[in-house]
Amino acid sequence: MDIKKSVVLGICAVAVVGIGYAVYWDYLRQTDPEFRRKLKKTRKKAAKAKKAAAEESKVRAADFLRKAVEQVGNENFPTDVTAKEKYFMEQVAKGENLFAKGESDYLDAALCFYKALKVYPNPVELIMIYQKTIPEAVFNLVYEMMSIEVKKKQAEYFENFPPKEMNVKVEEVSQRSTSDDHVRRALISTKDFAPGDVIFVEQAIASALDPSLEGNEFCSYCLKELNGSEFHDESDLFGAIYCSESCREKAMTEYETLLFTTRDDSRSSKEARLMESVKSGKVKYPLMIARFLAKMVHEETQKVATGIEEEYSTWDHIERLRFLAVNPSDKESKEIKLMRDLFETKVPGMEEFISEERYLMLKGKLLYNAYGIHTEHNLGTIRENLEETVRSSQPTVIGAGFYRVASYLAHSCSPNTEVRFPDKNNVLSIVATKPIRTGDELNVSYIRVGDRDYSNRRNELETKWRFKCTCTKCLEETGEIDTIA
Ligand SMILES: *[C@@H]1O[C@H](CO)[C@@H](O)[C@H](O)[C@H]1NC(C)=O
Ligand SMILES: *[C@@H]1O[C@H](CO)[C@@H](O)[C@H](O)[C@H]1NC(C)=O
Repeated sequence: MDIKKSVVLGICAVAVVGIGYAVYWDYLRQTDPEFRRKLKKTRKKAAKAKKAAAEESKVRAADFLRKAVEQVGNENFPTDVTAKEKYFMEQVAKGENLFAKGESDYLDAALCFYKALKVYPNPVELIMIYQKTIPEAVFNLVYEMMSIEVKKKQAEYFENFPPKEMNVKVEEVSQRSTSDDHVRRALISTKDFAPGDVIFVEQAIASALDPSLEGNEFCSYCLKELNGSEFHDESDLFGAIYCSESCREKAMTEYETLLFTTRDDSRSSKEARLMESVKSGKVKYPLMIARFLAKMVHEETQKVATGIEEEYSTWDHIERLRFLAVNPSDKESKEIKLMRDLFETKVPGMEEFISEERYLMLKGKLLYNAYGIHTEHNLGTIRENLEETVRSSQPTVIGAGFYRVASYLAHSCSPNTEVRFPDKNNVLSIVATKPIRTGDELNVSYIRVGDRDYSNRRNELETKWRFKCTCTKCLEETGEIDTIA
C-alpha cells in the first residue's frame, strides 16, 4: 500500500479512536442546548441498538477479548527481524486453521491474528489486508481487540504521562467557586522545591516566531537570537533562517520540507499563499498549526517506515488540553481553506482531516495554552498582538510555543512558579518562586502582574482566557478573604 495513504489512515485512526472528540462533545454538551437535544435523541437510538446487540450474548466474547488484550499486553514478543517473521507466519497460519474449523473457534482465531499484528512492521497496512482476506466475523473480533487496547492505553494516559522525571503529575481537582463547581485538571508537584529550583524542562511541540521577525535575527526553529552565522535552505520558499545546521535539519525534516518546498515558486502557489497570509496577517497561529499538522504527518511516516511507535502520539498529548471555543469567522474560513489546499497537494486525504471543527479546536488550544517566548533583547518595535493570546508575564515576546506539560499550569496572580527560557530559545523551564511541598498544585501567571490592581488583571484574564480570577491575591484585594485569617 502507498505510504501516504496509510499515513492519513493512521492519523485519522488516532484522532477518531482517541478522545479528542469526547472532550469536544463535553464542551458542547455544557454550552449548546441544541446539541444537548440532538445528543438525547442519538442516545436513545444508541440505547435501542445496544439492547439488540446485547441479546446476542456478547458478554462472554467481550470478557474473552478484554482478558486476551490484557494478556497480550504482558507478553514479550520477539524483537529481531527473523524471529518476528517466524512468529508472524506461525500466528497467521494458526489463525487460518482455527477459522477453518468453524464459528466455535473464531475467538481463538482472532487472537492469533491480533498477536500477528503485534510484530508486523506496519499494522495499519496489515489491518487493510485482514479486512480483505479474513471473514468479517473474525475481522470484527480483531478490530474489537484493537479498540480495547487503544481505549486502555488512553485510559492510562495520566499514569504514564508526564514521565516521572518531570517531577509533576496531572490530577483532577474540584474547583469550588461561587458560580459553579466543576472538576479541572491541575499540575501537582511530586517533590519538594525551594525558590529558584528548576522543576522541569520541556521542549515545544510547535513554536513560531512573530512573523515580522522571521528571516532576520532569530532562528526559525528554536527561536534563538542569531550570533552572526546563519543557515538556510535554498529550496525553502518561506525563507526561514536558522542558528545552526542542526536546527535547519530538524525544521526541514519535521515540517519545512513538507510545507514549503516546491518546484512551483510562483506567487499563486499554495505555499506562497499560506506564507503571504501569515506574513501579511502578522499572525503566527496558522503557521504553528501547519507545522503541528506536518509534524503529525512526519510522526506517522516515521512509524510506518521504522515500525517504532512512541507510546503516545502528539495528537494524544494535545487532545486532552483545554481550549477556547473559537467562533468561525471569515478569517478562520480563509485559514482553513489555505491549509486544506496546501495539505491536499502534499498528503492527499489530509484535507479531510482538517475539518473546520478540528481546525478551530486546534486554534482554540493554542489560544488557551501557548506561552510567549521572551527575550532580554530590546525589541522596541514588537507590539502585542491582541488576537493571538499568549501566556506571558514578560514585556517582550518574540514568538509562541506550545507545550505538553506546562499547558496544565493554572493561573494565579501570585503563583508559586515562573516560566523561563534559560538557553534563550524555545526550551522552557518551570522554576519555583516559592517553597513548594510534594502534593502542592503548581501555578504560573498568565499575565504581567506588576502593580496592576485586581480589576485590571481580571479584565485581561476574562478577555483572553474567559475566566474570572479567584486566586488568593485577587480575593485579598477584593476583601473576599481575610489576609489575617
Ligand atoms: C553561534 O550559535 C551556534 C548555535 O546556537 C553555536 O553552535 C555557535 O558556537 C555560536 N557561535 C558563536 C561565535 O558564538
Ligand atoms: C496556586 O498554588 C498554590 C500552592 O499549591 C495554591 O495554594 C493556590 O490555591 C493555587 N492558586 C490557584 C488559583 O489555583
